[in-house]
Amino acid sequence: MAIDKLGLEFTAALPETVDHFNSAMDDYMLFSGEPVGDLLATAEVDPDFALGYCLTGCLRLFGGVGSSHPRVNLELRAALARRNRVTPREQAHIDAFAMAATGELNRAGQMWDAILAEYPHDMMAAKCAHECYYLVGESGNLKASALAILPAWDESIPYYGYLLGMAAFGLEEAGEYRQAEKLGRRAIEIEPRDCWGVHAVAHVLQMQGRCQEGIAFLDGTANDWQQAVWLRGHLWWHLCLPLIDDGQIERVISIYDDHISDCDKDMVTRLNDCTALLWRLELKGIDVGDRWDRLVDMWSYHIDEHAFAFADAHLAMTLVSAGGEKKLGRFLESQHAYIEGDESTNAEIIDRIGRPLCLGMVAFCRGDHERAAKLIYPIRDQIRRIGGSVAQRDMFRMTLTEALLRSGRAEDARDMHAPTIEATPTPSGLLDFGRALAATGDQGAADAAFDRARAMTT
Ligand SMILES: [Fe+2]
Repeated sequence: MAIDKLGLEFTAALPETVDHFNSAMDDYMLFSGEPVGDLLATAEVDPDFALGYCLTGCLRLFGGVGSSHPRVNLELRAALARRNRVTPREQAHIDAFAMAATGELNRAGQMWDAILAEYPHDMMAAKCAHECYYLVGESGNLKASALAILPAWDESIPYYGYLLGMAAFGLEEAGEYRQAEKLGRRAIEIEPRDCWGVHAVAHVLQMQGRCQEGIAFLDGTANDWQQAVWLRGHLWWHLCLPLIDDGQIERVISIYDDHISDCDKDMVTRLNDCTALLWRLELKGIDVGDRWDRLVDMWSYHIDEHAFAFADAHLAMTLVSAGGEKKLGRFLESQHAYIEGDESTNAEIIDRIGRPLCLGMVAFCRGDHERAAKLIYPIRDQIRRIGGSVAQRDMFRMTLTEALLRSGRAEDARDMHAPTIEATPTPSGLLDFGRALAATGDQGAADAAFDRARAMTT
């Protein structure tokens, strides 16, 4: 039996395994190093280290690869084979991993939360629950999970700052921006390299339309998150959002080329960022050259995966944008077969939301705005179920707005924005709201929306 740096017992045969586990968790907190490779190497020489296989498989899943990925399956089998030799806490981890590997991420998250109810300092459980809820857009659970254990922590406990960063992101996704920013900034104060804390603050600034502050904040902290090989691409992506609003397109393109597009085919979350950025640029009428072509090569490995509706939508957008009609046809057939042959929650989400969203984005890219609006408008309030963050999903709102406006449905565009503008006004939302109001003939209200947007960005 070994004891990790948080005082939790875990099963290991070799004394050095504890150092490897602690160091992998340190890397995980910082999104740096090679925790997957290190854990795997440790697990392969320590016959009892079930948690190593468990965390390795989870990290792969959270990177966005499907449960059908051969390595995930191998690691799940290796963890399960050791299940009757480990503690009840570790057994619960293995069971949650097994649930996550079936694609039931919300349920897996709840299983990790159940571990936390007994072991509130189990950071591995906290991180796994956090990732699951984020990936399936369960913002209520995302917030509740980290906040529930926070009272059991204080600064004397390792990883306390990181927990604040996680709580900050949960609060941000729930729209509680003030408290989110407070906790996020405290997390960075404790550990400037806490890139997830940086990420939470970047989200707050984005959602509140604090464009110049967002640019200055990410530029000013960039040196601290450069070692975060598994997150820095996404933080560069975040920097691009206010830069686009600020009209700094050349810088956005060079950030894309230098810092975002250099990803591996298995880094699905990064592929999502690549696609989303190119799509946002094209929405603004900016020519992105042949950048879709390289993306198609990497996305092609995932055509038959359907691990997440969010990734499927980005895959469809990439294939249609690159003109890969044959591959797009293959993807849509494969997605249809997946929906027909699978009874998981993920398959249900893809069927009800992901599929029409894919088809709508495809139609939009082909210039069939009427069809795009017809497909996406009815599911607009359920798109959060495909996962990702509010800021990421904003791209679908932007696309739907364009589709509605270009197909003469200005009233629908206006009505769609009105409640959101009331609750969380952002500059891009206000600009789209203003355009919709202008298209309905209400120029006075449109000008007021444009003024509000301008006041937020200057
Ligand atoms: Fe983000």
